[in-house]
Amino acid sequence: IRTQVGILGAGPAGLLLAHLLHKAGIDSVVIDTKSREEIEGTVKAGIVESPAAEVLSQSGVSDRIYSEGMKHDGIEFHFDGTAHRFDFQKHTGKSAYLYPQHEVLKDLIAARIRDGVTPLFSHTATAILDAESSQPRIVGTNAVGEGFEIAADIVVGADGSSSVARSFVNKDRNSSYFREYPFAWYGVLVKAPPSFDELIYSRSEDGFVLISTRDRDVQRMYFQCDPELDAASVSDEEIWRKLQAGIAGVELTRGPIFRKDVLRFRSFVAKELRNGHVFLMGDAAHTVPPTGAKGMNLAFSDVLWLNEALREYFRSGSESLMDAYPENAMKRIWKAQHFSYWMTTMLHVAPDASEFDKKRQLGELRSVTESAAANAYLSEGYVGWDYEADD
Ligand code: DHB
Repeated sequence: IRTQVGILGAGPAGLLLAHLLHKAGIDSVVIDTKSREEIEGTVKAGIVESPAAEVLSQSGVSDRIYSEGMKHDGIEFHFDGTAHRFDFQKHTGKSAYLYPQHEVLKDLIAARIRDGVTPLFSHTATAILDAESSQPRIVGTNAVGEGFEIAADIVVGADGSSSVARSFVNKDRNSSYFREYPFAWYGVLVKAPPSFDELIYSRSEDGFVLISTRDRDVQRMYFQCDPELDAASVSDEEIWRKLQAGIAGVELTRGPIFRKDVLRFRSFVAKELRNGHVFLMGDAAHTVPPTGAKGMNLAFSDVLWLNEALREYFRSGSESLMDAYPENAMKRIWKAQHFSYWMTTMLHVAPDASEFDKKRQLGELRSVTESAAANAYLSEGYVGWDYEADD
């Protein structure tokens, strides 16, 4: 196969880049190890920032986000037995949208099929050859074990946190910035109506709880747990006790729990985002802990910077925006790293937290919730900073 841009990974980043390149008349081939059913069926986060919703809508991927997604004009923090609301509309004039990531993926895949360039599912890349030349190649095997080769002008690694492409851009394991957290999330999907009309982020002596939603019939909730916890070992009764702890004045509506999983936390940034004609973006380049739901929204920033750079390259042959891509992308990557780290550490109780740590944390929550400036700061970060690349 011969194409202009070979993209590893049919996640939100890879598919959005393919869509935007197509609109600029640049052809690409997207491959993914997983099948379409697996990709569309994987449970991920649910929050789409205001600028991300605009990108999806204005580029023609989908308007479903506005018609079927749920507009959220604020969130609540619960701590010390009290509830505090952050008013997004008042502070930013914008909203966040609850629209599950697998629905975004369905829209993006439908757009590729509509354009006549269906992604190659069940295609596993094993290596990127001649990365430093102007004709890199992706090699791998397909679902029936036959070899394939994609020759391209540019190769993009958008293949997620266990990226194959990353090792062809960052040669050793020390080429990254990394942080682990001493806790994880226990996540459940529940068949029940919503308990509350906004998301609740709660901090109590028992740790963190998040009450989120998927739609009128399915709710998504998480509580802080040990990263080594076996998801199957926790009884439903224990789950409800953990979820209800710390939630002030809201009785959770119960229903059958039909999915239980443990989500590990990591903060990670690859040092290099480019090697010759090979680029990294999205989770292949960086991972954030889930608090604040920045993952996909951050990935779109990389996509817009790279889209702008590749358009220039194919139009004029100039590599100046390709050269600028890592520096441009890194600015928002570190802002989002900070926001996710801040939301995480402000709301979780580390297993080894001292009494000082806990009282300081409550002091921080009071400072943030009582200050109008801090309310605006959190709201701006949550609904999403504007993207800077030209579209
Ligand atoms: C969800 C996940 C998050 O990490 C978050 O901050 C908000 C919502 C979710 O899965 O609904």
